[in-house]
Amino acid sequence: MIQLKEIDKYIESRFQRIFILKGINLTIQEGEFLTLMGPSGAGKSTLLNILGLLDEDYDGEYLFGNKNIRTMKERERSSLHKSEFGYIFQAYHLIDELTVYENIETPLLYRKVASAERKSIIADLLDRFNMVAKKDLFPAQLSGGQQQLVGIARAIAGRPRLLLADEPTGNLHSGQAKEIMEVFQELHQEGTTIIQATHARENADYGTRLINLLDGRIESDEKI
Ligand SMILES: Nc1ncnc2c1ncn2[C@@H]1O[C@H](COP(=O)(O)OP(=O)(O)O)[C@@H](O)[C@H]1O
Ligand SMILES: [Mg+2]
Repeated sequence: MIQLKEIDKYIESRFQRIFILKGINLTIQEGEFLTLMGPSGAGKSTLLNILGLLDEDYDGEYLFGNKNIRTMKERERSSLHKSEFGYIFQAYHLIDELTVYENIETPLLYRKVASAERKSIIADLLDRFNMVAKKDLFPAQLSGGQQQLVGIARAIAGRPRLLLADEPTGNLHSGQAKEIMEVFQELHQEGTTIIQATHARENADYGTRLINLLDGRIESDEKI
């Protein structure tokens, strides 16, 4: 599904080039559930952003389904970004002016899902995350953990082919974290490809592959 070849990401400071990622080679098959671990600053978020087409400022090649991202038509890249990828960010990126319900609805509108089906998908997600009573509230009226849950509900509402999650359980208590990992596990069983960055080793155990990053390099890559 994905192939990264010799990816370097760096910033130029006055006297030297500082590498954030260095020589990343990575092949990800459709259906994998991959966890990126590593200390803070290792490059996990940077790598996720590149994989998620949110950062195009790097050297090396990124092939998605054998197509080079750089030479792909803008329309095709944008369709991957809007309809095939789901994102869960560290900072939730909810839309402040929209209610919980409307936030979750946005990817379904992109995907032109019919109104009745939208209602049923959103009702299921609200129920699953115990947020039915919160559906008409705005993000600012929710706790950090609740905002995270809305972000997760929104990311999976459109049934993405590839789910990218940056510290998805970072703001959740352990019960909620376990629930989210179980949702990921179900999505994985249904065929969704998942790439998550996390500090929590127990989250990695839900996946099929664990990559350790250190100083922008792949330190180890193992099957779980
Ligand atoms: N735009 C940027 N400018 C300068 N440094 C950056 C930038 N983005 C990331 N970094 C640095 O790159 C390193 C890796 O960051 P990041 O990918 O966020 O790590 P992680 O998610 O593993 O904690 C950090 O040292 C961070 O400070
Ligand atoms: Mg990070």
